[in-house]
Amino acid sequence: MPPDPPAATRPAPPVLTVDDLRVAFPGAGEAVRCVSFTLRPGEVLALVGESGAGKSLTARALLGLTPREARVTGTIRLHGQPVTTDDLGHRISLVPQDSLAALSPVHRVGDQLALAALSLDPRLSRREARDSATAALRSVGLDTAQAAAYPHALSGGQRQRAVIAMATLGAPDVLVADEPTTALDPDVRAHILGLLRSTGATVLLVTHDLDVVRGHADRVAVMYGGRIAETGPAAAVLQDPRAPYTAALVGAVPTALTPHRSRLPVVPGDAPAPGEPASGCAFAPRCAYAEDACRTTVPALIRLPGDRELACPVRESV
Ligand SMILES: Nc1ncnc2c1ncn2[C@@H]1O[C@H](COP(=O)(O)OP(=O)(O)OP(=O)(O)O)[C@@H](O)[C@H]1O
Ligand SMILES: [Mg+2]
Repeated sequence: MPPDPPAATRPAPPVLTVDDLRVAFPGAGEAVRCVSFTLRPGEVLALVGESGAGKSLTARALLGLTPREARVTGTIRLHGQPVTTDDLGHRISLVPQDSLAALSPVHRVGDQLALAALSLDPRLSRREARDSATAALRSVGLDTAQAAAYPHALSGGQRQRAVIAMATLGAPDVLVADEPTTALDPDVRAHILGLLRSTGATVLLVTHDLDVVRGHADRVAVMYGGRIAETGPAAAVLQDPRAPYTAALVGAVPTALTPHRSRLPVVPGDAPAPGEPASGCAFAPRCAYAEDACRTTVPALIRLPGDRELACPVRESV
């Protein structure tokens, strides 16, 4: 056994550790299958993959927000301790996708944040709750006039800033943002993502958009068929993808049918249904590298040099 590295070079312990997370629905198979990953302090981890890959279910499982019929198993730890229901929405906080739906139309933005601050910490005085709302709004560049406005009077970008401010109230350990900018124009989107990053929070960012991964994530976890196919530093994975699915994703040319230039390119073939295939690697039916063993054995996620992980024995040593 090599000796432990000196403390100064040892990576900081993760903020969040997800181990063997599974989400299954009665009558359907597992939509999320043995998903394990960590979030390191202050990093943005992008969770990427095509529609139905299990990204939202994974994100929602961290918040205890999976559909009632879902059976969720696995372990989620915050700073090494199992997550409790008190942590949900408090130490792990959601940045909603649709700011208009997330904010009440009949209350001023500042009042809503003050109420949210009070519900997070009922010991606060009204004055303290209001001050903490004002500070949170100011930190995302919204002033007192915008705090006094009703949500419909703000632009989409301003509203999204307000919901980010709301999510950061109470200084959560982890922000979970599921496609937080899909409704916004590309330039506003970049600004909002920059803002999310500038909060210094540890973020799980679910996205379809490889440009978002490239520009705003430290690491990426690529999901396919409910499993993680590959993880690693965002730039390295996009530049030198190892999982055949990631390679197809990065190399695929957007078609005329791709709704937006920077949206996830289309990989030929159909995505698997939850629980499919019953054996082997879920990508094997669409994979140019597939060997016989790929159709029978589910590949384990193996550590590679360069802080990477890969679930593909065929591409482990290329
Ligand atoms: N309530 C449910 N009952 C049965 N199956 C469900 C339910 N909710 C989600 N699923 C299935 O779980 C799979 C993963 O869903 P999820 O919403 O996590 O996908 P996603 O990766 O977020 O996709 P998208 O990019 O379209 O948002 C999908 O195949 C979906 O059909
Ligand atoms: Mg989703």
